[in-house]
Amino acid sequence: MKALILSGGKGTRLRPLTYTGAKQLVPVANKPILWYGIEAIVAAGITNIGIIISPETGGEIQSQTGNGDRFGAKITYILQSEPAGLAHAVKIAQPFLQDSPFLMYLGDNLIESQLHDLLAKFLQKDLDALILLRKVDNPSSFGVATVDAQGKVLQLVEKPKNPASNLALVGVYLFSTAIHHAISNIQPSARGELEITDAIQFLLNNQKMVEAHQLEGWWLDTGKKDDLLAANHIILDSQLETDVKGEIDANSQIIGRVQIGTNSQIINSTIRGPAIIGENCYLENCFIGPYSSIGDRVTLIEADLEHSVILKNSKIVKIQQRIVDSVIGQRVQLTLAERRPKALRFMLGDDSQIELI
Ligand code: TTP
Repeated sequence: MKALILSGGKGTRLRPLTYTGAKQLVPVANKPILWYGIEAIVAAGITNIGIIISPETGGEIQSQTGNGDRFGAKITYILQSEPAGLAHAVKIAQPFLQDSPFLMYLGDNLIESQLHDLLAKFLQKDLDALILLRKVDNPSSFGVATVDAQGKVLQLVEKPKNPASNLALVGVYLFSTAIHHAISNIQPSARGELEITDAIQFLLNNQKMVEAHQLEGWWLDTGKKDDLLAANHIILDSQLETDVKGEIDANSQIIGRVQIGTNSQIINSTIRGPAIIGENCYLENCFIGPYSSIGDRVTLIEADLEHSVILKNSKIVKIQQRIVDSVIGQRVQLTLAERRPKALRFMLGDDSQIELI
């Protein structure tokens, strides 16, 4: 059994963060999203993992994630020259997959459930495809499945205008080698991509064994800002353990579950967990509220924030309003001008979003 993680793509929905970095490396509780997927796959006993990367962000993914040693896995990187679809990614991964069944995992997805049960069901029933489904409020944004009363999959449609059900395809699939034949028999869709839903539909049309498993726990597709904040909230809530390193002065208060990395300095500040602060950070006169993740080497002076994700090397100084529900990229500087001019001064990247009051 092998695994294939899809970590190419464009990441248009998470711009501007994804102009300069891979969306799968955006951190949730200070750990790249992609790593949660790798850890879940290894926990299910699969250690031979291929990762699809794009020419734009592949180098960064490779250098941060490495050869798999840190996860107890062997990772092979597979370059997809353009994001021509999920089924296209499987097609170019064929030399890696060879004649092995495999688990396919979208690198920007986070799921709560363990993969063990799914894997056991797939192997016991000797299926050609096992797909994971979850009820969603906005099925038009996903691949949607119609299933009969016994849970047998009848039809799959990618992002339908009039969805036949509210069951969306979660970004985890198990396939036998039959998927390769299916992919060689489909054509690009109207949006120009080779769709995995079309390949699975081909399996269905050819009486192959396709079953669905309904997911009860949470599933997050971290493609957009609010999804990312939701993922950060859930992971801090469910997985964060207290571990305070660094230097905390006598005037500071640490309340609840809080992690602080080595060499970070906390001066006259209150940190109310669940919250995580990386290494080599400097915080002075701050209030950091619940559900905040602060990356490495961040400086915060007179900052008041909660339910936010701040990426590494950023600096927030003397902003005199509370910052909430925010995602701030790497190397951002948010400061109060020394003299108070009547005008505001900005240097913002494309697709930045600022709300002033
Ligand atoms: P998507 O989120 O569907 O696509 P995207 O990354 O291009 O993002 P956006 O919609 O914001 O532009 O992709 C799901 C996952 O699969 C994601 O981790 C990227 C990856 N992927 C590939 O590796 N190759 C591909 O050809 C496509 C379409 C996606």
